[in-house]
Amino acid sequence: MKTFIYKNIRIAYNDAGKGATLVFLHGFLENKNMWNPYLNFFASKYRVVSIDLLGHGKSENLGYIHIMEDQADMVFALLSELRIRKATLIGHSMGGYVALAFGELYPDHLKGLVLINASTRADSDERKLNRERAIQVVKKNASAFISMAINNLFLEQTRERFSKAIDVILSQALETSVQGVIAALEGMKIRNDREVLLHFGPYYKMIIAGKYDAIATEVDILEETKEADVATHFLNCGHMAPLECEDEVIQLIFNFLKKK
Ligand code: MLT
Repeated sequence: MKTFIYKNIRIAYNDAGKGATLVFLHGFLENKNMWNPYLNFFASKYRVVSIDLLGHGKSENLGYIHIMEDQADMVFALLSELRIRKATLIGHSMGGYVALAFGELYPDHLKGLVLINASTRADSDERKLNRERAIQVVKKNASAFISMAINNLFLEQTRERFSKAIDVILSQALETSVQGVIAALEGMKIRNDREVLLHFGPYYKMIIAGKYDAIATEVDILEETKEADVATHFLNCGHMAPLECEDEVIQLIFNFLKKK
C-alpha cells in the first residue's frame, strides 16, 4: 500500500504494473482491496492504480460531506502526483459516480469510462429520503447499519456462496468511521445527474450491469442507455458484479481495452 498527502489528509492507494493506466474505484463501504484480483490480472499489461476513496479504507476524511466532485478532485490530484496524464477509470457503484464526476471535470484526462452497477442519474426523491433515514440509523448505531448495508449488497441466493468474501468485506467496512459513512451518504444524496455524459463524454464508455441489481436496476440502466451509443452488458448477478461475476467482468474490461 502506498500513501499520498492530499489537502493534509492521507490517501491510500495501490499502484502496480506499467503501461496505459487503469484506475479502479470502489463503492460505498468498500475499499481498494476489492480490486486485488483485477490488479493481479491487469498489471502484467497495464499500470493499475486502485484508490481508497475519501473516508474509506485507509484514506482519511476531508470533510463532513464528500461530494462526488471532491472525490474526483482527489483522484485527479493523485494522478497528477503520479505523473499520469490520461487513464481509463473503472468504478463500481459509488466509484462509478466518482468516475462520472471525473469525466465531467477532467474530460481531457479520461481515456475510457467503465461503470459497473452504477446509474448515471441523480437520486430520486425517494432515494434521498432513504439516505436521510440511513444517516439517522448510522448516527445511532453505525455497526448495525454497516452490517445490514453490506449484506444488502449481495443477492440472497449468493450470500452463502460468497460468505467468506462477505466476512472480509464486512470486517473492513466496519473500520469505516461514522464521519466517512455519513459523508458518503450525504455526497451521494446530492450528486448531479450525469446521464448526458453517456451521449457527449469524449471518451470510450462501457456499462456493466447486474440483471438482479436492486440498486442500479436493469430497468433503470436500460432506460438510461436506450439512446446512448454505449456498450452495455447485463450479467447474471446483483449489485456486486465485480465479485459475483468476477471472470466475466475481467473479460469484458479486457475486451474493452483491447478495442481501444
Ligand atoms: C454503492 O454500492 O456504492 C452504493 O450502494 C451506491 C448507492 O447507494 O447509490
